[in-house]
Amino acid sequence: MIKSIGDKKIKTAIFISGTGSNLKNLIKFSKIKKSPISINLIISNKRIAKGLRYADQFKIKKKIFNFKNFKKDEKNLSILLKKEKIEFICLAGFMKILSKEFIKRFNGKIINIHPSLLPKYKGLNTHKKAIKNKDKLTGCTVHYVSAKLDSGKIILQKKVKISTKDNPASLSKKVLKQEHKLYPAAIIKIFG
Ligand code: GRF
Repeated sequence: MIKSIGDKKIKTAIFISGTGSNLKNLIKFSKIKKSPISINLIISNKRIAKGLRYADQFKIKKKIFNFKNFKKDEKNLSILLKKEKIEFICLAGFMKILSKEFIKRFNGKIINIHPSLLPKYKGLNTHKKAIKNKDKLTGCTVHYVSAKLDSGKIILQKKVKISTKDNPASLSKKVLKQEHKLYPAAIIKIFG
């Protein structure tokens, strides 16, 4: 595994598709002394992703790949990551599934945050599923990305209580709050 050496932080890219609250949170985390990572690149598959505003706000390089030509875009993405000397990738609400080859190339260097207590509720609509099943507990998971969706080795999890008054939106808000604590904690756990 890569290690941060001395004061040199690990060059990291964050991949997003939407709001980017985890992105913003990770940028803020990266600026504190104890953070082992620096955020050097933001990738989005959507031009309209709200989170892209943080690239401008924090003056971080951004690049959009719409993956319409999947092979070509993934290849160009790999070239860009190499050019920018990216050593570590954090997926944060990134809605594209990367190829097995790409994941293999970055083996052990891509992590993701998922809004459920994996292995429960892989994929989409996790909060809706948890409420429908009358679960009392849900949460979030940071895990390594493997070729199988939401199935890589778990790094850290945080539980969140579901109240009978919760709906998917209120639960998402509660879980997101914990995600913002969990993602930095997982990064510290990896490199600390
Ligand atoms: C988060 O709930 C994350 O767990 C999931 O997508 C959502 C992204 O939210 N993978 P944001 O864009 O970071 O606000």
